[in-house]
Amino acid sequence: MDISFEQRQLSHIAAELAVFAVNETKNLAGNPSFAALDALTGGHLATLAKDEGFCGKAGTQLRVPVQGLAAPWLCLVGLGDAKQSAESTSEWPHLDALAKAVAGLAKQRRRIALGVALEPGLATNGEAVARGIESLALGLQLAAYSYERFRTPTDEETLDVQVILAWADGGALPADGFVADEALKRARILAECTNLARDLVNEPPNALGTVALAERCESLAKRYGVSCEIWGPDVLERERMALFLAVARGSAAPAQLVRLHYAPPTASGKQTPRHKVTFVGKGLTFDSGGLSLKPAKSMETMKLDMGGAATTLGIMLAAARLGVDIELTAYIGIAENMPGPDAYRPGDVYQARNGKFVEVINTDAEGRLVLADVLAYAAEENPDLIVDHATLTGACMVALGPYVAGLFTPDDSLAADYAAAARRAGEGMWRLPLQEALAEGLKSDIADLKHTGEALGGAISAAHFLQAFVGDVRWAHIDLAGPSFLERPHGLFAKGATGFGVRTAIAFLEGFKAS
Ligand code: BES
Ligand code: MN
Ligand code: ZN
Repeated sequence: MDISFEQRQLSHIAAELAVFAVNETKNLAGNPSFAALDALTGGHLATLAKDEGFCGKAGTQLRVPVQGLAAPWLCLVGLGDAKQSAESTSEWPHLDALAKAVAGLAKQRRRIALGVALEPGLATNGEAVARGIESLALGLQLAAYSYERFRTPTDEETLDVQVILAWADGGALPADGFVADEALKRARILAECTNLARDLVNEPPNALGTVALAERCESLAKRYGVSCEIWGPDVLERERMALFLAVARGSAAPAQLVRLHYAPPTASGKQTPRHKVTFVGKGLTFDSGGLSLKPAKSMETMKLDMGGAATTLGIMLAAARLGVDIELTAYIGIAENMPGPDAYRPGDVYQARNGKFVEVINTDAEGRLVLADVLAYAAEENPDLIVDHATLTGACMVALGPYVAGLFTPDDSLAADYAAAARRAGEGMWRLPLQEALAEGLKSDIADLKHTGEALGGAISAAHFLQAFVGDVRWAHIDLAGPSFLERPHGLFAKGATGFGVRTAIAFLEGFKAS
């Protein structure tokens, strides 16, 4: 989808379809942009809208052939009651609904013009308009996404869609001027990196095994100036990552650790050393549960279990392309959890990278074992902060539902900053407590600790287990088992992978101050 902005009125854009969105109202004619379109089209629009009972209700559309505009068709899109979304913090409420509607229209038309009408308060503020345009363009590209690799394309589907944003006729223009380039570029980068993460998760587990995922990380990283190293089982052995290797034992596919590094362009005269942030991602290309085998139903979607890895890669590429001014490292732990002949077993004990002995209880709690060694390694480099993303527990989905990720950190100010970034990015994240009482459950009869705890509060026990490997480094853990992959369409997102976490991480990094 190609999105551009033209400093012209909607009526002048020669598209196949012109789109104008209206809030619900009893008095359509009182909307100056609607009135302008009505006048241009000879006064038929108001009559038609009245006859069809169109008053801007959410989810409704009125599509009519028109004369008097440069486009032969006009579509009015209803956005619903503006007041209803009073709790929305956005300066532009309904942008997601609009993006979704236009993405739907883009399935039928190749060249669409969309008239942007400013809310009264926005007319003086070019900066706020830029933020609105960015989130509209981002929403359009997220809503238009679909995973098509294994579908034979029909002729119409191969064409690309062009969306031209323009000013609504008869409306206000930002008094302090407005340039769209930067906003559209940011939207494109964030959308491409989010959609790339979605592609990786949607890939079938036979098409994207451990080695293929590592190689994909490498080729994408190289394209955008991010350096990449891949460590295979022999290096992991040498680096004493026995927990990570244990998980991979039951699969024919070798464990892979991907290390990415991004150094911001050096600014001359810069005095203070740059902050260093490390991201860690869980990359299980498939999670059968291992010997503690999952029931068939629970296994059906387990290609999703590299969602944390995909998000981590998406964050690194987006940060590099946006030129974020923080030094970033990422570790992506990749393995497949299978019950093959050499599989690790409940009751096994392995020594982690940080020296701790861990008793295995349930081989389906594999993610935390992979992360433990990787986090321990990352912590040795002593960054200012580690953030891990993992589709870690079903329990987190039980607690928060399918659309909200669990956020864990012992650091109150970090929790507040990360949650605030999630709100700005429009993603659902909610802090869960690292309640001390649940750490008790990880005591083992024979080893330093076991890797699963109490039956209840499973997301919290898992987070406690991870915390035992980060030492004193500031750390946040994001359990995105729910929002990383949708069982049904929700908001802007189709069924399947969402690339959850990329936009929040970028919003967080752009406001990051190490304290
Ligand atoms: N990958 C799963 C978690 C998961 C479940 C993600 C459903 C997305 C949807 C993880 O490896 C797992 O199996 N966790 C177990 C832990 C348990 C054995 C302590 C779980 O949540 O049941
Ligand atoms: Mn599992
Ligand atoms: Zn898993």
